Amino acid sequence: MNYSMSQVYLNGQFVPPGEARVSVFDRGFIFGDGVYEVIPVFGGRLFRLAHHLSRLDASLAAIRLHNPHTPGEWSSVFNRLLAGETDGDHYIYLQITRGVAPRDHAFPPDVAPTVFAYAQPLKYSPAEQLAEGVAAVTAEDIRWRRCDIKAIALLANALLRQQAIEQSAAEAILIRDGVVTEGAASNIFVIRGERLVTPPKGPFILPGITRDLVVEIARTHGIVCDELPIKTETLKSADEVWLTSSTKEILPITRIDGKPVGRGKPGPMHARLFALYKKYKQAFIRGQAE
Ligand code: PDD
Repeated sequence: MNYSMSQVYLNGQFVPPGEARVSVFDRGFIFGDGVYEVIPVFGGRLFRLAHHLSRLDASLAAIRLHNPHTPGEWSSVFNRLLAGETDGDHYIYLQITRGVAPRDHAFPPDVAPTVFAYAQPLKYSPAEQLAEGVAAVTAEDIRWRRCDIKAIALLANALLRQQAIEQSAAEAILIRDGVVTEGAASNIFVIRGERLVTPPKGPFILPGITRDLVVEIARTHGIVCDELPIKTETLKSADEVWLTSSTKEILPITRIDGKPVGRGKPGPMHARLFALYKKYKQAFIRGQAE
C-alpha cells in the first residue's frame, strides 16, 4: 500500500504509516468495538472542532469508554499531523477502540484503548457533480437502533453504499418504516419551494456536524428549516434533495431510483445555501467563525 501521509498517530506516538502496528486481538479488529470522527481542515484550521469533539464524547459515553485526551491534547495531535501539509484542504480521521484483550464479548477490565489518527488531503466533489448533481437510490435501512453513535462497525453502511454504486448511484438514501433516515455516509435534506426539511435527530441518524451547520445557516438567514420525518413519497416529489457530510459538504441529488428530482438539475435553494456555506467557510478561514 502507498501512503500519502508521512506519519500517523498511534497510542501516544507519531510513526510512519507503514510502521504503525495494532494487535490482531484489538477489539476494533475482532468486534468493531470502537468509535471514530472525521474532521475537515480548511485553510489549515479544524472546522467546527468543538462540535466534533463533543460528538466524540457522546459516542464514547454511549459505548462506555473514557476520552483518552483533553481537547487541548487532541488539538496538538491534529496540528502535528497537519504540520507540513500545506497544499489544499485536509481531513483528520481518528478512531478509538476498546483495546487489546483475549476474545470475549464482555468488556475486558483495565485495558488501555487503542487511539489512532491521521491526516489526509480532502478530495472535493468533482465540479461536474456540483453542476449536475449525483444519483441516489433508496434502500431499506438495515442498520441497528443506535445510528447516533459514530461507530467504526460500518458493515451495513458499506453494503448499502456498494448497493448504490452497483446501481450507478453515488449514495443510498435509507428508509426505515416508510421514512427517510439518512444516507449511507451522509445526512439528507429535502426542499419544497423555499422550505428545507431534514429528519429529526434521534437513535436512527448520525447527528451530522454539516447537517447542523446547514440548519444553523438557513435559520440565520431567515430560511425555514424544519426537523421533521420525511416520507418516501415526499422525498420522491421534492423540488430538491441534498446530501451533507464533512467531506462532501452540500451535494445536490438530482436522480433518485432512476427518476429526476424536480427538474433533474441542482436547484436555486442549493445555489443559495451553498453560497452561504462557502461564505461561512471563508469567514472561518479568516478566523471570524468557528
Ligand atoms: N461520514 N451519517 C452518516 C452515517 C455518516 O457516516 C456521516 C459522515 C454523516 C455526516 O456527518 P458529518 O456532517 O458530521 O460528516 C451522516 C463520514 C464523513 C465518514 O464516515 O467518512
